[in-house]
Amino acid sequence: MKRESDAGMTRRTWLFGTAAAGFGGMAFCARGEGQAKPDVRVKRTFAGTRNRYTFTHSLVQESVRMMVIGDAHLTLDDERGETWKSYSGRMSTPYRKMRHWRTGKEIISPAGFDEALETAQKSKVDFLALVGDIVSFPSEAGVDYVIDKLKKSGLNWMYISGNHDWHYEGLPGSLKDLRDEWAPKRLGPLYQGANPLYAMRKVKGVRMVMIDDSTWEILPEQLAFLREQIASGEPLALFMHIPLYVRGYPPGVAQVGDPSWGWDSDHGWQVERRPRWPKTGHTEITRAFRDAVFSAPNMVGVFAGHVHCPMQAEENGIVQLCTDINASGAFLDVRFERGAS
Ligand SMILES: [Fe+2]
Repeated sequence: MKRESDAGMTRRTWLFGTAAAGFGGMAFCARGEGQAKPDVRVKRTFAGTRNRYTFTHSLVQESVRMMVIGDAHLTLDDERGETWKSYSGRMSTPYRKMRHWRTGKEIISPAGFDEALETAQKSKVDFLALVGDIVSFPSEAGVDYVIDKLKKSGLNWMYISGNHDWHYEGLPGSLKDLRDEWAPKRLGPLYQGANPLYAMRKVKGVRMVMIDDSTWEILPEQLAFLREQIASGEPLALFMHIPLYVRGYPPGVAQVGDPSWGWDSDHGWQVERRPRWPKTGHTEITRAFRDAVFSAPNMVGVFAGHVHCPMQAEENGIVQLCTDINASGAFLDVRFERGAS
C-alpha cells in the first residue's frame, strides 16, 4: 500500500500566518520558507445520508474514499488474560451480542468488525481509520486478532486508542499514567511504529491526523503537533476517539472541551473504576486544542466514535461526525472530493 509520508516523524516546518476563523470565505495564509502564499478562499460543502457522507474542500486535490470504524469493543481473551480477569470482567460481556445496524438481526462479536473490514476491502478504500475502543480491554488475544485481520486485509490503516483499549478497570494510577504504561505495552503493534499519542500520514494529499484523547485531555505536545499540521497549509482530517465539544449536543454526552466537563459531570467513574474527572475541568491546553480544530481553514473534517450512535455537528463550517458502534457492524463511508476554489 502506497504511503506518501508518515509523521509524528516526517515534519516540514512551514511559516504560517494567523488564519482568520470562519467558514465560507476566509483569508488563508502565508506559508513556505518565508514566502507568502496567495490568499485562498476556502470553500467547503458537506452532504450525506445514513452512514455515507461526502466532504468537499477547495484544498483537496484528489478524490479520497475512506472508512471509519470505532467501538468494535472486541472481548476476545485467552489464558494470557487470566491474571487480569478481575480488571477485564465488566467489559468482557457488553457488546458481544448485538442487533446488526442495518438488518436488525443478531450479530455476535467479532462479526461486526470482520464485516466492516471485508466491505473496506471490496470498496478498495484509500484509507481506513480505526478511532478507538476497538478492544474492550487490552488483552493480548484481542490485539493479536485485530492485527492479524488488518495485516491480511492489505488496507492502508491507522489506529488511535479509545478510553477502553488500554484500560484494565480498577488498576491504580492516573488515566495518563495507565495509558502511558498499557498503550505501548499491549496496543504497540497497532501503532505501526508511530507515536501512540499523535501521528499523521498523507493520503492523496490529505493529512490524516490521529490524536489520542482517550483520557479526555490533550497534552501540550499534541496541541503543538496539531498546530504544526494546521500550519502546513495542506488539507487535513482529524481522527480521535472522543468527540470534541460542540454546543447543542445532547446532555450527558461527554466531549473533549466541554465547559461542563469535570467532577460534577462524571457519572461513570465508579462503574469504570477509574479516577474521577478533576474539579478544575479541562486544562487550558485541551480548550485551546478544541478551538484550534474548529478554526483551522484547512480542516476538511473531524471524525470520532465513543458515543455508540451516529452524531453530526458543525462549528465554523467544520463538520464533526461520530460513527455508530461497530460491534453492530456499523461504519462511516466517507469521501473527500475536490471543491471549487
Ligand atoms: Fe469510548
